[in-house]
Amino acid sequence: MHAHAARMRGLRPQAVAARIGEIAPGTARFVDQWPTGQDVEILPPVRRALAEIGVRYLFSDDAPTLLPFASRLFAAREVLVRPSRWEWPPWIPTPARRFRTRQQVAFTDALRSVVSRRRSSGRSGDDVLGQMLRPSSHYGPLSEEAILDTLPGITVATFETPSRAAGWILLHLARYPRAADRVAAEAALLPADPAATTSTHLDCLQYTQALVREVLRLHPPSWLLTRRAPRRTQLAGYTIDAGSTVLVCPYTAQRDAREHSEPDRFQPERWLDDSGSPAKPGVFLSFGTGKHGCEGAALAMAMLTLLTAQAARRYHVSEPPGPEPSYRLTTLEGLTTVGLRLRATVRS
Ligand code: HEM
Repeated sequence: MHAHAARMRGLRPQAVAARIGEIAPGTARFVDQWPTGQDVEILPPVRRALAEIGVRYLFSDDAPTLLPFASRLFAAREVLVRPSRWEWPPWIPTPARRFRTRQQVAFTDALRSVVSRRRSSGRSGDDVLGQMLRPSSHYGPLSEEAILDTLPGITVATFETPSRAAGWILLHLARYPRAADRVAAEAALLPADPAATTSTHLDCLQYTQALVREVLRLHPPSWLLTRRAPRRTQLAGYTIDAGSTVLVCPYTAQRDAREHSEPDRFQPERWLDDSGSPAKPGVFLSFGTGKHGCEGAALAMAMLTLLTAQAARRYHVSEPPGPEPSYRLTTLEGLTTVGLRLRATVRS
């Protein structure tokens, strides 16, 4: 049985809600360590912080062992999507592809020893790996192969897309200071000790969540989704042949004036008063939809909301001066602000 079909219990919203106190210290550490008063390339430290949180969320005490493998697998995947001079056919083992395969194998090997250590000690653990090791009442036990196949990809997923989203969010805090002030005011309710943060605190960050959602609407990191038609079908007046690939573009769909009023305007309130953007299914596609929709949406929203609230509470964020943006927009690695530089100034 394939791990995906089981949907990971540990990533469900209730499971995430129970572990907010473990996530908040990680995002707070990123905020604490952000060097102030200078323009800083921000995506690398965001990614390191989210990787630490994500890997700990999945593997708890085994996280330090697995984190370096996760970082190297991320790097290998990123190199692979960079444009190169030649479009090699998919079966050519280019150096980048061999590097990726090596990192995948290294991660799987490290994970295999963690799994066998947990199995032989009889303590599978309370984290996501532990839940995968215990048979579910619904699906029975997962094969070790399914676990080892799935987890490296899931591990990278905990921080790869979220850090791209975080780049866009921090950029919006810089560009919309009044929205940032409103986030800061809301974030004043967070406890001084981040480890004391609970899902109740998170639920109170309504505006912050709306802001995160609004940034994801305008800049969905996964801006193009695909589906294969298993049989010939009709869709919006078109005939789709069996086996065709259908491309779905959240970027354009989420800027469609039929569904979102003033679609190009950054307006977090639209998600609060329910007037600007309806909650109809299919209208918000940044996490995909349906059976293969994002399994990590609750974890992503928790990490991003906390990071946004804590950052805005402590700092004014600003872009480097000058007419040119500090970043290069890329689409190949997902919609990303490569090289983004931002400055944090402590709020008085
Ligand atoms: C802002 C952050 C994130 C965004 C924008 C995002 C977006 C997406 C999208 C668009 C899909 C494809 C959905 C579809 O085709 O319908 C997806 C799939 C998936 N995501 Fe995320 N994701 C994020 C964070 C995460 C996190 C934190 C995890 C944690 C493990 C995660 C795990 C997954 C998994 C496992 C799938 C595959 C689901 C399947 O094929 O059954 N994602 N994500």
